[in-house]
Amino acid sequence: MTRAMVTTPQAEAQVYLHGAHVTHFQPRGEQPVLFMSARSRFEPGKPIRGGIPIVFPWFGKLASDPAAPMHGVARLAEWRIQSATQAGDGSVTLVLGLDTDKGTHPGWPHACELRYHVGIGSALDIALEVRNCSQQAITFEEALHTYLAVSDVRQVSIAGLAGTEYLDKTDSMSRRTQGAESIRITGETDRVYLDTKTTCVLDDPSGGRRLLVDKRGSNVTVVWNPWIAKAHAMPDFGDDEWAQMLCLETCNAADNAVTLQPGHHHEIQATIRSEPRSGE
Ligand code: BG6
Repeated sequence: MTRAMVTTPQAEAQVYLHGAHVTHFQPRGEQPVLFMSARSRFEPGKPIRGGIPIVFPWFGKLASDPAAPMHGVARLAEWRIQSATQAGDGSVTLVLGLDTDKGTHPGWPHACELRYHVGIGSALDIALEVRNCSQQAITFEEALHTYLAVSDVRQVSIAGLAGTEYLDKTDSMSRRTQGAESIRITGETDRVYLDTKTTCVLDDPSGGRRLLVDKRGSNVTVVWNPWIAKAHAMPDFGDDEWAQMLCLETCNAADNAVTLQPGHHHEIQATIRSEPRSGE
């Protein structure tokens, strides 16, 4: 499969045309920020496991058609490179494009234009722009489904979601409220945090760093770890890999789906970076 391998003075990264999928981001002198499964498939029609899948235009299963691909069509499509530019500081921005029109999938009978900006500097800056090229309003869900690499998911904590409401996908979408304390992962976790706009900070003491996901144009944050049984059931995921990853996803979904009028556009953005823990 065709990929761009980018090296800048600040970092290196890899981006596949398949799904416009960022599979690697590593600031110079540091460990990779993104988790990639050693069991990932790289095949037409299959999503890549790890990195940053683009979820669009529906999140999870499509309610009206359970046979439709999970998480939409964008991560399965072949995108094209529109431009590659280098800024004065040496950072590189790739822009990838995809047009969807009537016939892309029965679950998405709308014409729209997707543009994805991937900025590779000391941070990874990603932005998905959706333009409605059809004659009527469209409603969609989307996610920059970021798999973060962690030393041991049982040791990390996540700040930034205290006091918010979430849908618990491991418990029939029941609505719950997050407590005041940082989130710890102690079992299968699959939560859709609603009306959440703030930066999330994943603290990884054994990794000696914090990973920060700062976002704009996004009202939902999904926290996902499959834990043991689900990891075993996934054909493209190693049995023990659940301990090495945590998904912190920048989304618009469920109550916070996006409606766009004809001719209008919407952008969802995330900046992902690492910083050393103080004193380390
Ligand atoms: C998360 C969902 O975003 O993605 C989970 O909330 C899902 O329910 C996970 O299991 C992985 O999905 P997939 O299709 O990449 O296996």
